[in-house]
Amino acid sequence: MTKHLAAPTTGAAAASDRPGWWRDAVIYQVYPRSFADGNGDGMGDLPGIRRRLPYLAELGVDAVWLSPFYASPQADAGYDVSDYRAIDAMFGELGDAEALIRDAHGLGLRVIVDLVPNHSSDQHEWFQRALREGPGSPLRARYHFRPGRGERGEEPPNDWESIFGGPAWTRAKNPDGTPGEWYLHLFAPEQPDFNWDHPAVRDEFRSVLRFWLDLGVDGFRIDVAHGMVKAPGLPDMGHGEQLKLLGNQVLPFFDQDGVHEIYRSWRLILDEYGGDRIGVAEAWTPSADRTALYLRPDELHQAFNFHYLNTGWDAVALRAVIDESLDSLRPVGAATTWVLSNHDVVRHRTRLGGGLPRARAATLLMLALPGSAYVYQGEELGLPEVTDLPDEVRQDPSFAKSDGQDGLRDGCRVPIPWTRGGTSHGFGEGGSWLPQPEGWGELSVEAQTGDPDSTLELYRTALRLRREHPDLGAGDAVRWLDAPEGVVAFRRGAFVCAANTTGRPAPFPAPPGRVLLTSGPYDGGDLPADTTVWWSA
Ligand code: NOJ
Repeated sequence: MTKHLAAPTTGAAAASDRPGWWRDAVIYQVYPRSFADGNGDGMGDLPGIRRRLPYLAELGVDAVWLSPFYASPQADAGYDVSDYRAIDAMFGELGDAEALIRDAHGLGLRVIVDLVPNHSSDQHEWFQRALREGPGSPLRARYHFRPGRGERGEEPPNDWESIFGGPAWTRAKNPDGTPGEWYLHLFAPEQPDFNWDHPAVRDEFRSVLRFWLDLGVDGFRIDVAHGMVKAPGLPDMGHGEQLKLLGNQVLPFFDQDGVHEIYRSWRLILDEYGGDRIGVAEAWTPSADRTALYLRPDELHQAFNFHYLNTGWDAVALRAVIDESLDSLRPVGAATTWVLSNHDVVRHRTRLGGGLPRARAATLLMLALPGSAYVYQGEELGLPEVTDLPDEVRQDPSFAKSDGQDGLRDGCRVPIPWTRGGTSHGFGEGGSWLPQPEGWGELSVEAQTGDPDSTLELYRTALRLRREHPDLGAGDAVRWLDAPEGVVAFRRGAFVCAANTTGRPAPFPAPPGRVLLTSGPYDGGDLPADTTVWWSA
């Protein structure tokens, strides 16, 4: 069993073999359904990913985070787990996971897996037994079952709403078929929330952590890390408003202080294994200061910086969020992370509204900041959001549950193109589970490799420079430089970065030194619109 990393076999020294590797690591998110299909069934899988690992090593990332591949009925694309220790047949088997981890380590890549502890699938054995055994079953105490309100229990127990739309409660049937208790699900009805006050739930997840650590994983991305503990008594939220996944309200089911005890107990396990295994919180909190609490020295190592992701392409707002992100983590000694895209949001090429030039400029700004950066598969190809998927192919439960009003997450999950031509552009031999749009082949790895103007080569060069330049990556400070309105400019040691967020050229004097990299054409004069430049100066 691989517990420690082999020496990296490619590229300059990888961050991943240094102590504290995560502090400046570039972590690449693989969405298993859509990365590479090894068996030609139209759905990505672990053997497909394994074959493409050399591509990731060559790209220059330090680690791979795999979205869930566990046994699941796929009501929420695998974020509904029915067996936390098994691989879903559509993705392969346990031996494939072991081989993937082994190969990744051989290439100097760390492997982070997704853990989904807030809820299980409704097909999980515990939940099925809880339903079968009826009210009073001890298994029901591992979830949140409650009698309904109203004379006949016909109203949900409180006013909480599901993030995917509609009430956060579904009424279960009694074993005799009559309407029974309600159960809580902050997401889809197929995703019942665990009751984290129950010791069996806590024990189970400690055991699941050990299972994957024994298999050699280097860490966990913790899904809904802010949601496991609910306010005592499950009080009404009282707003009467539709919830927003990205909202910053204080809510009785998110960011409760009780979650931190869980992470303290998990940290002991991670440390016990050695080899710098990490925990990464997917924590949506009202403020950067609240996020910092998850990163105290005895809790987790990283948290996604959704405050950064939610910031528009605006110099004042960007400076503010960068300062706030760095300042908020200094007291707890944690490294900041940066992220522009993932499987839940509109791809940043489309979201930022300025097409490919702006996406490239945003990427170079992000990769110049101190700390760790997350790259979502396909952003290195400059993929746009696919906005015209026909309704009948969409699989996102938030789309289905909201009568077509909201379908935000399939368009960033379309299988990525590897080759110009061929079935599903090299994704696999048998088509792709979401249709790829026209023009996908020209964005493929094959089409971009070796073209110095391509976005893929921009990412490769940027990641190489991050490894080579001593002032990129590590540290926790930027020194802001005077810059015209709309330009974000800072120095880090002998490194300078300037990003023009406006739609017109800006007079930013080039610092003495040499240009390392530019996101678009630059002749040393004014900084062109939507362009970022790196200097060694
Ligand atoms: C966050 C995941 O990223 C998202 O894809 C999922 O739907 C929810 N958590 C629920 O697990």
